[in-house]
Amino acid sequence: MCGIVGYIGQREAKELLLDGLKKLEYRGYDSAGIAVLQRGALQVKRAVGRLENLCAATGDGELSGTVGIGHTRWATHGAPSVENSHPHCNEAGTIAVVHNGIIENHEELKTFLMEKGYRFRSETDTEVIPHLIDFYYQGELLEAVQKAARQMKGSYAVCVMHVQHPEQIVAARKDSPLIVGLGQDENFVASDIPAVLKETRDVYLLEDGEFAVVTANDVNLYDVEKKPIQRSVYHVTFDENAAEKDGYDHFMLKEIFEQPQAIRETLRGCVAPGQPVVFDGVDYQDIAHIREIFIVACGTAYHAGLVGKNVIERLTNIPVDVDIASEFRYRHPIIDKDTLLVVISQSGETADTLAALRLAQRRGCRVLAVTNVVGSTIAREADHVFYTHAGPEIAVASTKAYTTQLIALYGLALFLAEHKGTLSEAECEMVKQEMLQLPELTAQVLESAESLHTLADKFLQENDIFYLGRGLDHAVAMEGSLKLKEISYIHSESYAGGELKHGPIALIEEGTVVIAVSTNERLRGKMESNVKEVVTRGAYVLGILTEGFPESVFDDVFYLPEVNPLFAPVLAILPLQLLSYYIAVGKGCDVDKPRNLAKSVTVE
Ligand code: AGP
Repeated sequence: MCGIVGYIGQREAKELLLDGLKKLEYRGYDSAGIAVLQRGALQVKRAVGRLENLCAATGDGELSGTVGIGHTRWATHGAPSVENSHPHCNEAGTIAVVHNGIIENHEELKTFLMEKGYRFRSETDTEVIPHLIDFYYQGELLEAVQKAARQMKGSYAVCVMHVQHPEQIVAARKDSPLIVGLGQDENFVASDIPAVLKETRDVYLLEDGEFAVVTANDVNLYDVEKKPIQRSVYHVTFDENAAEKDGYDHFMLKEIFEQPQAIRETLRGCVAPGQPVVFDGVDYQDIAHIREIFIVACGTAYHAGLVGKNVIERLTNIPVDVDIASEFRYRHPIIDKDTLLVVISQSGETADTLAALRLAQRRGCRVLAVTNVVGSTIAREADHVFYTHAGPEIAVASTKAYTTQLIALYGLALFLAEHKGTLSEAECEMVKQEMLQLPELTAQVLESAESLHTLADKFLQENDIFYLGRGLDHAVAMEGSLKLKEISYIHSESYAGGELKHGPIALIEEGTVVIAVSTNERLRGKMESNVKEVVTRGAYVLGILTEGFPESVFDDVFYLPEVNPLFAPVLAILPLQLLSYYIAVGKGCDVDKPRNLAKSVTVE
């Protein structure tokens, strides 16, 4: 959603803050700002647009000081403008605040504060925070921040500075991520680990409802009653390069090519040669009683859930329902203690998915989280956590997170099947061996990336592209369509092949581009009939096919290696990811930071 940073120590804060914000820009890039405290005065600089605009605005000699906070914004309340940019200050200019999240009762608080004589300059929800702290401030900053926090509903990760307290930054979190980086005679605060990784590998992961008083020499954590909290240091193991581009033009391309390794790493959490099937984070006895599984997620994670439904039902005979989190939480889902709720979230911070988790736990469900971020809010609140080991996914368009989520769901299906006996030992072993081939098969598909670059050039001028598939291929078609639209801005729809004749085929005309995914021999004939339906109406059709499928009805084909149809989604999505990437690059789009989007949607 937004990125926040803080620094306090012996060095000049400005460059350290800007460096930290650069690592967080993927969280939002509508505007940015920093505040530095020196000799009892707050120096604030803010700029609309990309972080580079702020860097350009903070000339040499300006913003000198060794304590500061910074922010990169994804607008939720108030358009991207200087007035709406963070840091926000109180009228006296003695308090500066950066915030990630949404203060849901900001209108009510604004009314209260205006009745007390406070005047507002922005349209944001955040601006209530410095005024509220000002209202409660009586000489002790932590106390004022805690009193203000008690009034705030919604989500926040904040850093607060006060001119009377140049020796400290007060930080707090509720439903938005926040970490404290531990240095030598200096300390850092940030929304996410990559922002501090260049400076330190040792961090505190703040929990909801916790406060940190950060000075150059120590960090003290408290609960809302000011009771001290002891927290063990989390030592970060992934290296800084993992969060950099490694020579690729874009994070997205790097992350597409990281998939063989990401899949290999994630497989370790469930299957290994000669080892019994396990499922990290879950003791079978804890879920042996479940009668139904509910998978809930958003976007790409939801598409992974659709594959998971198909595979888990087929291998375990357990009924599985899949729902979009923002719908699930507002309907009346029939769930109870015999339901296992599986939430899938790359970031582990998606507000709707987190809300679904909390709803399920209130209903007595056990919750299993599949997430890519250690210590994320969803990871901490779930009863069980299976981590996908994809490494940091920086590009807004999710790629390696999707395929590793599939691995997690395959692993869960096999784990359950083995314990429930719905697969024989020999069948389990066969499925396991096929899963262990996936990293190699993925690498093999990626070797043909250049052919997709050539194909992509055919579609640069298209306004509409349709995706078709049946069964698991339909779930893949949905994900392929999302990839295309979110980075190339080309309108795209995905349809179950058999659904076209019930209406959508009216859209097909001469030259319409259709991408058909067909990887299952059992459904091939039906799919070919659907393709013929659009071809006779003038469509151009690209087939994403399993080796050996005839190319007769297609204008172009991309062949995948032979694979168990259950695992075909892991391979079939790769050409669709690459096609979307090359089309977006060909159109000159900002692939890693598409317009209107952010990497982690921590608001409803
Ligand atoms: C995927 O390419 C999108 N960026 C988006 O749909 C994303 O999958 C969705 O917001 C869910 O995010 P999460 O996995 O972090 O919960």
